[in-house]
Amino acid sequence: MAAVTRGSFAVFRQLVRKRLTSFYNIKLSEVVGSGRDGRILKEDILNFLAKQTGAIIPPTLFQEIQTPPSAAARPAGTTAVIGPPPFTPKPVFAGKDITEPLKGFHRAMVKTMTAALKIPHFGYCDEVDLSRLVALRAELRPAAEGRGVRLSYMPFFIKAASLGLLHFPILNSSLDESCQNITYKAAHNIGLAMDTAQGLLVPNLKNVQQLSVFDIAQELTRLQALGTAGQLGTHELSGGTFTLSNIGSIGGTYTKPVILPPEVAIGALGKIQVVPRFDAGGQLVRAHIMNVSWSADHRVIDGATMSRFSNRWREYLENPASMLLDLK
Ligand code: COA
Repeated sequence: MAAVTRGSFAVFRQLVRKRLTSFYNIKLSEVVGSGRDGRILKEDILNFLAKQTGAIIPPTLFQEIQTPPSAAARPAGTTAVIGPPPFTPKPVFAGKDITEPLKGFHRAMVKTMTAALKIPHFGYCDEVDLSRLVALRAELRPAAEGRGVRLSYMPFFIKAASLGLLHFPILNSSLDESCQNITYKAAHNIGLAMDTAQGLLVPNLKNVQQLSVFDIAQELTRLQALGTAGQLGTHELSGGTFTLSNIGSIGGTYTKPVILPPEVAIGALGKIQVVPRFDAGGQLVRAHIMNVSWSADHRVIDGATMSRFSNRWREYLENPASMLLDLK
């Protein structure tokens, strides 16, 4: 704060007040000022907001708003962002029971999940060190963005799964109703659990075995746009052969995924966390760790197969350059 003059601090305070009042739609005439000559301070606005919404504003937020981060504390090349505190909506009590019919995709979910109950699921979990992948994505991201496509981690997870399925095709199979025949699917139509405005939907990317990481990122962007617009159709939502669910993008670490029949396996990915680990030389290192939870149909998949597949998938992601050897 040493570099901030008295005048610029006053302008800053005014800006904070203005942002807070416009963001929360507060009329200043309703706020009682506790400053000199009844001046309204940012604390008065936050207290007013707290009384209106019942929210408790933590003291640290007062501090964050009062003190703009110094240039030295900010990442190079960024400017100070002065904004209102994150707003947590007040919980709502309905006051009465509400019953409504299940419609559309919710009805479909009841049907699919009831069918899934017939499958004897078995679970297998592991952790993956994504430190190298984190660095690789950071390197490739500008190039992908230069081609107009956002590159998240998902295209790498999907490609590694497809390469793993080439080694263990039974995980990309389906069992017939009478449990007499197993069909090994040629196409890797990898489904992706997607949190959309219509609820949980699982569109799939067709023929991932023929797609590059960039192609996958492009298709994922298309599917996400359709999901956001509520326009995912039968073509995108049918024909999946294997599924991944990234619960980590919402913030979860572990989950117990449910297989989507007629598929025989599904993987759920937790959030990538920076945690201490020991490297091969016994040195403590900063590692980007992600948990993976697999569920497989125990009628056709045994634990050893699931474990070998998971190891192969993990190895591709821990040493992403190794994927190059197997890419067509
Ligand atoms: N850990 C940490 N960060 C993650 C992450 C993870 N596991 N997964 C994604 N992220 C990051 C992304 O890299 C991105 O950050 P960036 O802007 O720096 O690239 C950010 O989180 C948002 O990613 P998102 O827009 O969600 O894209 P995605 O390609 O990673 O995921 C979907 C796409 C469709 C999987 C995701 O949007 C989604 O809907 N997830 C919820 C799935 C769900 O509901 N599963 C439960 C089924 S029961």
